[in-house]
Amino acid sequence: MSLGHVNITPQLVQAVRDAVDIVGVAEEHTRLERRGHRQIGLCPLHKEKTPSFSVEASQNLFYCFGCGAGGDAIKLHMMLSGDDFPAAIEALAGRYGVPLPRQEGRSKMGPDLGPALEAAAAWFSQQLAAHPPTLAYLAERGIPLELANRYGLGYAPEGWDGLRSGLSGRFPAAQLEAAGLLSPSKQPGGQGYDRFRNRLMFPIRQAAGRIVGFGGRTLGDDDAKYINTRETERFDKGTLLYGLDQAKRAIRDSGRAILVEGYFDVLGTVAAGIEGAVACMGTSLTAEQAKALARYGEEVVVAFDGDAAGEKAYTRSLPILLRTGLTVRRAEFTAGVDPDSLRLESGNEALVERIESAPDAIEDELERQIPADARQQPQLQASLAPRIGELLSALPDPILRYSYGRIAAQRLGIPFDLMTKHLGGSAKSRRYRSEARDSGEAARSESSREAATRTPGLDQEQAVLRLLLSFFDDHKSSDNKASTGIRPVLPELMSGDLSVDPEMFWDPDCRALFSLVETASTDPIEDRIAGLRRRVEESRGPVELLARLVIEALDVPPVPVSREKREEELTRALAQLRRRWLTQRQQDLAREIRQAQSDGDAGNLERLVAEKAILSRRLHVESAALGGGAR
Ligand code: UTP
Ligand code: MN
Repeated sequence: MSLGHVNITPQLVQAVRDAVDIVGVAEEHTRLERRGHRQIGLCPLHKEKTPSFSVEASQNLFYCFGCGAGGDAIKLHMMLSGDDFPAAIEALAGRYGVPLPRQEGRSKMGPDLGPALEAAAAWFSQQLAAHPPTLAYLAERGIPLELANRYGLGYAPEGWDGLRSGLSGRFPAAQLEAAGLLSPSKQPGGQGYDRFRNRLMFPIRQAAGRIVGFGGRTLGDDDAKYINTRETERFDKGTLLYGLDQAKRAIRDSGRAILVEGYFDVLGTVAAGIEGAVACMGTSLTAEQAKALARYGEEVVVAFDGDAAGEKAYTRSLPILLRTGLTVRRAEFTAGVDPDSLRLESGNEALVERIESAPDAIEDELERQIPADARQQPQLQASLAPRIGELLSALPDPILRYSYGRIAAQRLGIPFDLMTKHLGGSAKSRRYRSEARDSGEAARSESSREAATRTPGLDQEQAVLRLLLSFFDDHKSSDNKASTGIRPVLPELMSGDLSVDPEMFWDPDCRALFSLVETASTDPIEDRIAGLRRRVEESRGPVELLARLVIEALDVPPVPVSREKREEELTRALAQLRRRWLTQRQQDLAREIRQAQSDGDAGNLERLVAEKAILSRRLHVESAALGGGAR
């Protein structure tokens, strides 16, 4: 989603990281209140009534105890805006005054066309305000002026050089041409001319709000009802959804998006009082567009035109939407009607009702494809089962896949186990799952995954990490042993009979984090946490977990826990982890020794027996250290 002309270097990322104020980023979307070290408020990433969103400004970290999202300011900005990483760096660099290095001349994107596109949009909207016939056209189509302004609509006047001369003082014609606003002259050496003439102009923005192109609807009898900016790398319809910038908050709040085909359908739907409308602009939906929707919401109501093209577009889009894990509902329109025209003909309520009562797309599809008497038609049963199976295979959630499969089998009149063999799709769905997770915004599925695969003793593992992290920050407390930081704690943890090994952590995230804590503990104390965070990010480690633990660790409880107390607690918690691991290892060894004995593998046996001796000694030392009776 970036314009791609910025060279994202590690130095730039670091400079942005240092400059960004996480509280500022959060406060654009929620109100924060100070609570000790941290600031808390209602989470801007999910809907909630009691605040569970927490920001630790000194560490530039956030964590939401409700939805499990966490990370640094850049990640927060990405989650709130929908920007991808390069776009986030650009946007934040701009906002916090970090200079952007430009890529060298051979950049295929050329100069930054953003300002020319923004200036053109402003110019078009000035023209609209001064052109009564177009204002009347909007009024006739039931589009209030506020709405037109909110979507930045404009008017491209008749004539060949209105825009060119309107912007000539500020942007050279070559640049306007590169931005797709002028068409190149047919005569060699001639001037480019306005591409959009006598058209109602729709600026098309990326999710992050940057204008990348325009759509223009003819106001006369031009053969082309709409023309759009020429498709380029920058203006690629398949990656854009018209209206997403304006709709994303509503989609996030309500969890629901309305997917329509046309620009006017977006306006009409919003005018009818339904927010969250976006258009795929008449082209067939891409996986990228579907994923963009899934980033913000969990449900989409598809409201395509009631014609053959709309029907075909819907059939193509359904599996693409289902694959992202979105719940899909279908609002249907009679022949020749689209959401906007339904509203104009029958009123807002008719459109609202059509969207609100839209049936579940899969149930709808099963009813549509499987005739009620299918059970009496063996040929049909045989041909429909695999087709239905293919549709259901798009569902990433195996439970949904199978429960719809059961309904389908019933309707088809075939035994469920005959249906199940058409429900495969698991490899595919695993892939989509992990893609969704990679995009980083699937906080919901992330936290439910965590719950499903919860490691026994997870709380204890996290407690150890939290305690270790609390020593990372000790130079800031008034504690006069402060400057010693974690040093006296860690080295002895890493050696000798009482040493702690990453293997003692069973939870993969905790284990990864512990290893990194170990490495970061040699960083200078002032930026130990920053260093740790960098390491976690670089290794694509558990950023959310780190953010949460740091926030918990640095949070000042009503009575600050003294260093001695925390050391005591840490010693005890570590002992428990160690015992758990030693005991388990002992059991494993006993099994391996029996195996080696029955295999007559003398070499291996010797090694195993030696290890067992060491283990026994460690367990003994452990018990002695704890006075023989830790919990
Ligand atoms: P429609 O023809 O259904 O347009 O095309 P509409 O939005 O309903 O417009 P009105 O109500 O007739 O004025 C749906 C979408 O397909 C794209 C546009 O994004 C349009 O909104 N389209 C259509 C084009 O890009 N070019 C075209 O020539 C036609
Ligand atoms: Mn239409």
